Amino acid sequence: METLLDEKQLRDGVRRMARDITDHYQDRPLTIIGILTGSVVLLADMIRLLEMPLRVGVLQARSYHGATTTRGELVINDELMPDIQNREVLLVDDIFDTGYTLREVISRIKKLNPSSVLSAVLLHKEDRCEVEMAPDFVGFHIPDKFVVGYGLDYEDEYRNLPYLAALEEADLKTQ
Ligand code: IMP
Ligand code: MG
Repeated sequence: METLLDEKQLRDGVRRMARDITDHYQDRPLTIIGILTGSVVLLADMIRLLEMPLRVGVLQARSYHGATTTRGELVINDELMPDIQNREVLLVDDIFDTGYTLREVISRIKKLNPSSVLSAVLLHKEDRCEVEMAPDFVGFHIPDKFVVGYGLDYEDEYRNLPYLAALEEADLKTQ
């Protein structure tokens, strides 16, 4: 595995993003919704850097079903969501790849009548976007490599790595 972003780089990137988010919302109350499972590490680090009145909720979106590139059907579970009617909502996810996950989650969230919806992602993969939108806050732009660590998984492993690594051919399980 090749280290793409070490712990210090990640920390600095999350701090930068938290500053941009603070500049945008100032002291207005915010509801952060983390998209499970990949956002858990970012969510935990990010919310401790924000000082506005904050609510935190989660929803689950699953699409990859283990593979690294083939896209499965997207399943969204919003049963754990707090009430977001008339609230400002910021969705937090680990990575914006093709963009389908965030686009679908945003359209689901909008049906719940929040007063605004923006999105923040730790990583944005270059040249992979297949939708007409982009995340509002981005930690890092990265090349088109399959990455793990800091919440991101390969077949549900590696989420606990404190750094971000790119998987190499030899790390991929052959089915
Ligand atoms: P999208 O719908 O294609 O934007 O994919 C978003 C989801 O795919 C992310 O929330 C991740 O769960 C997963 N994903 C995309 N690229 C990677 C990667 O390089 N490593 C781990 N998970 C990834
Ligand atoms: Mg994921």
